[in-house]
Amino acid sequence: MILIILRFLLLIWPARTETAESANTALPGCSESCGEVAIPYPFGIGPNCSISEDFELSCRTINRSSTPYWGELAVLDINLSLGQARTSTPISYQCYNSKTKKVEDSNWSLWVPPFCYNHEKNKFVVIGCDTLAFVNFINDQNSYLGGCVSGCGSLESLTDGSCSGIGCCETSIPAGTNNITFWFDDDKFNNSEVYSFSPCSYAMLVEEDGFHFNTGYITTSQLKDQNVTVVIDWVVGNTTCNAARTSKSYSCKSKYSNCSDSNSGPGYICNCSDGYQGNPYLQGGCIDIDECATQKNPCSKPGKCHNLQGGYHCSCPLGWRNNHNNLQECELNWAPLVGICAGIVALCFLGLGTYMILERRDISKIKEKYIQQHGGWILLEEIKSNKDSALQFSLGNK
Ligand SMILES: *[C@@H]1O[C@H](CO)[C@@H](O)[C@H](O)[C@H]1NC(C)=O
Ligand SMILES: *[C@@H]1O[C@H](CO)[C@@H](O)[C@H](O)[C@H]1NC(C)=O
Ligand SMILES: *[C@@H]1O[C@H](CO)[C@@H](O)[C@H](O)[C@H]1NC(C)=O
Ligand SMILES: *[C@@H]1O[C@H](CO)[C@@H](O)[C@H](O)[C@H]1NC(C)=O
Ligand SMILES: *[C@@H]1O[C@H](CO)[C@@H](O)[C@H](O)[C@H]1NC(C)=O
Ligand SMILES: *[C@@H]1O[C@H](CO)[C@@H](O)[C@H](O)[C@H]1NC(C)=O
Ligand SMILES: *[C@@H]1O[C@H](CO)[C@@H](O)[C@H](O)[C@H]1NC(C)=O
Ligand SMILES: *[C@@H]1O[C@H](CO)[C@@H](O)[C@H](O)[C@H]1NC(C)=O
Ligand SMILES: *[C@@H]1O[C@H](CO)[C@@H](O)[C@H](O)[C@H]1NC(C)=O
Ligand SMILES: *[C@@H]1O[C@H](CO)[C@@H](O)[C@H](O)[C@H]1NC(C)=O
Repeated sequence: MILIILRFLLLIWPARTETAESANTALPGCSESCGEVAIPYPFGIGPNCSISEDFELSCRTINRSSTPYWGELAVLDINLSLGQARTSTPISYQCYNSKTKKVEDSNWSLWVPPFCYNHEKNKFVVIGCDTLAFVNFINDQNSYLGGCVSGCGSLESLTDGSCSGIGCCETSIPAGTNNITFWFDDDKFNNSEVYSFSPCSYAMLVEEDGFHFNTGYITTSQLKDQNVTVVIDWVVGNTTCNAARTSKSYSCKSKYSNCSDSNSGPGYICNCSDGYQGNPYLQGGCIDIDECATQKNPCSKPGKCHNLQGGYHCSCPLGWRNNHNNLQECELNWAPLVGICAGIVALCFLGLGTYMILERRDISKIKEKYIQQHGGWILLEEIKSNKDSALQFSLGNK
């Protein structure tokens, strides 16, 4: 009977979690993607699809391929759990045109408030032979002037993949930077002598992991019209989690979500609670992860996996139990066996005891009868009246 009930429970378990919450990532009626890029809320395409105007994107279609744009910045992907987005940005260059004998350059200025440039993943990189570029970082409170010098004695001294001052130089950016301007210095570094083999110099903000210096960048102008990726941190709200939780505009709408303060400035991002995944910014957006359905079964044999809301349970077969230190493991359970054995032994003893008591009663009854029958009482009376002989009697008996 119990087994049947258990079976039934196991059957309805997965069914319940599947229907629990919907898996939409955008507001109803809003598109979930633009081209290849998923657009999860709080971002959205067009008015009324995003959490605020700051998160409004436009989807532009050029030559049948669509790309989302945040202002003039092309967006490559959006990561909800990290609170980051990757954008495609042009490189600033300074090139010597051998026909016109003039230096052409493109200055670069970009601001992203209320968001900011990620200071851990992005680097300011300068490429060129004898190039000095200045950069102005601005965050909400301050403005910092920085620069990077890239020298190169000869082409032979350049190394692919190495950005340590020869042909390529890089420097970190301050936390909270949301406005960057950079330009080349022409006065101190006159690199007309290297134009013959190095026509261009470049300056860029770039995601470090996605960029590898190539000596070809020095000898050709291939980088001139290329874009690189830049990681932008975005946050919702302009307060801390604690202040936001009590306000009406708290953005972590899912019941199974949590708030974490941004480490790059004011504001916060939302995260699905442990055991859930999806979009924490939407009501019903975080859905339970079916741990048992993932390729790696979390329960080690012979345990059986059962998915629960926000977690899972490993059940052990009869004669096994969950290991206290590691609930994903089952260990042999001696307790019931020992109990059963102890029970059997106890029963044996009990039976034996009862048997002996009954037996003894019978014996004493028989004794009494026997003594009565053979006039034993008279003998006993006599023994009692004569203590010495009683002693002798009992001694002799021993
Ligand atoms: C967006 O919402 C506002 C107010 O709710 C409404 O007035 C406006 O018409 C909506 N715009 C669109 C394009 O739906
Ligand atoms: C669009 O396609 C045309 C013709 O194929 C091409 O000349 C043009 O450069 C393309 N535009 C972009 C932005 O790729
Ligand atoms: C380069 O980046 C700019 C600004 O984000 C964008 O407008 C342009 O389409 C990008 N170009 C390419 C080839 O990705
Ligand atoms: C977001 O970043 C995390 C950590 O790098 C990664 O595991 C996850 O797959 C990313 N999500 C998306 C949608 O790219
Ligand atoms: C959000 O949750 C994921 C998965 O639990 C975790 O990897 C990530 O670090 C969390 N992000 C923040 C900002 O707490
Ligand atoms: C770039 O900035 C420098 C210094 O501010 C200026 O001399 C130069 O004319 C600017 N170039 C362009 C194309 O705006
Ligand atoms: C960014 O910096 C530039 C130059 O320093 C300035 O002209 C511009 O107004 C700034 N933009 C914002 C949004 O602060
Ligand atoms: C750089 O040096 C060359 C010759 O060495 C000179 O003709 C040129 O005017 C200089 N350019 C600048 C901007 O000083
Ligand atoms: C924070 O955001 C709210 C609502 O968007 C706005 O009214 C307020 O002025 C902002 N505060 C700051 C300090 O930016
Ligand atoms: C949110 O996170 C805090 C601190 O990490 C934790 O105490 C709280 O239980 C979490 N709430 C939910 C709903 O996960």
